[in-house]
Amino acid sequence: MVSQETALDLITRRKPDHALDRLLYTDPGTLELDLAEIYYRDWLFAIPACEIPKTGNFVTVQVGEYPIVIVRGADGKIRAFHNSCRHRGSRVCTALKGSAPKLVCPYHQWTYELDGRLLYARDMGPDFDASQHGLKPVACEDAAGMVFICLADNPPENSAMLEAARRYLAPHRLNEAKIAHESTIIEKGNWKLVMENNRECYHCAGSHPSLCRTFPDRPGYTSQDENGNVEPVIAKHWERCEAAGLPSRFLIDPDHQWRFVRIPLLGAGESFTLDGKAAVPTKRLSTAPFADAGSLLFFHYPNSWNHFLGDHTTVFRILPISPTETEVTTKWLVHKDAVEGVDYDLTNLTQVWTATNNEDRAVVEENQRGVKSPAYVPGPYSRIQEDGVIQFVDWYCATMTDRLGGGHARLAAE
Ligand code: FES
Ligand SMILES: [Fe+2]
Repeated sequence: MVSQETALDLITRRKPDHALDRLLYTDPGTLELDLAEIYYRDWLFAIPACEIPKTGNFVTVQVGEYPIVIVRGADGKIRAFHNSCRHRGSRVCTALKGSAPKLVCPYHQWTYELDGRLLYARDMGPDFDASQHGLKPVACEDAAGMVFICLADNPPENSAMLEAARRYLAPHRLNEAKIAHESTIIEKGNWKLVMENNRECYHCAGSHPSLCRTFPDRPGYTSQDENGNVEPVIAKHWERCEAAGLPSRFLIDPDHQWRFVRIPLLGAGESFTLDGKAAVPTKRLSTAPFADAGSLLFFHYPNSWNHFLGDHTTVFRILPISPTETEVTTKWLVHKDAVEGVDYDLTNLTQVWTATNNEDRAVVEENQRGVKSPAYVPGPYSRIQEDGVIQFVDWYCATMTDRLGGGHARLAAE
């Protein structure tokens, strides 16, 4: 198993603009470090808020070793808790999602309020203090309809991201959405390979025939140079969209953990459908005043990328399952009044990203198989095509160096 020292050494010795060492993609020790230093410390995209629209609606999520439950309270607020009973630790909510007036542990029926307070515990005697046995809270923020959680006791400051999300996502009205469809697949690849694959379209022409009908695979569409220059077609798109009240310009976190940018689709396409036309043409989710507003892209490391279109939204969440397995969950959101079979056809809505996810699974799994070879040597990324991958891997290396290195400094000082 890779130790903290070895991981730090492999990260420090990585050649600039090159892929990571094999052990960073394959080793159980690396996954433990990734979980401890990133997944248990950073804000993670969990669910769209519209998934739990009513009091008592809940969703469970497994982050590494931590079962979490996210629930909407009687006051309308969304909260997250460690899904581990304060009696003897059983999971309290066992379903992937559901609805309950109170959270009742299935083992001995300790009963919790939706805000986590312990309400009832049978025969615990006169000295038992229920107020000391509420569910342990997990930090939870609703970013304009995207629910983020953070397992750290002291979550990192995220007000800039929340502010950006509120501004960019407002026209996309996620709080008026419902889930039309969702899919969860397991890709047999390390979570970093899954994210790297998402951050480039070098592979798109060779892998994604249906996505490439509408999604421009030109790297200039999703990045800007160091002076902030972009292709004229993008600059024009931003001007037109912003004049119509749709925040669109490239906005990246100074620490490179998240980014928003709106891009046009090919041929004035409206949505990720085979013919490029809106999948939900009459009950559109966004307030965009024209159909060809393209897609607002939002990634948030370590675990999410998203497409906000004029007619619908698609959100993506990844969670590591093992060093070489990653769960990828996709949710298609439409306006809550849109009726399947009347306002949209489910196959038309979902087929492009269903196919694309499967195509991505295939390339990620081949990537993982090849990286596992002792003959693998990390190769160079294309500066022209894989800027986004370099950006992600640089973020990963900087974050891990800071945290693993910081850990050393702390130990040395003790
Ligand atoms: S473990 Fe939950 S009530 Fe006993
Ligand atoms: Fe892809």
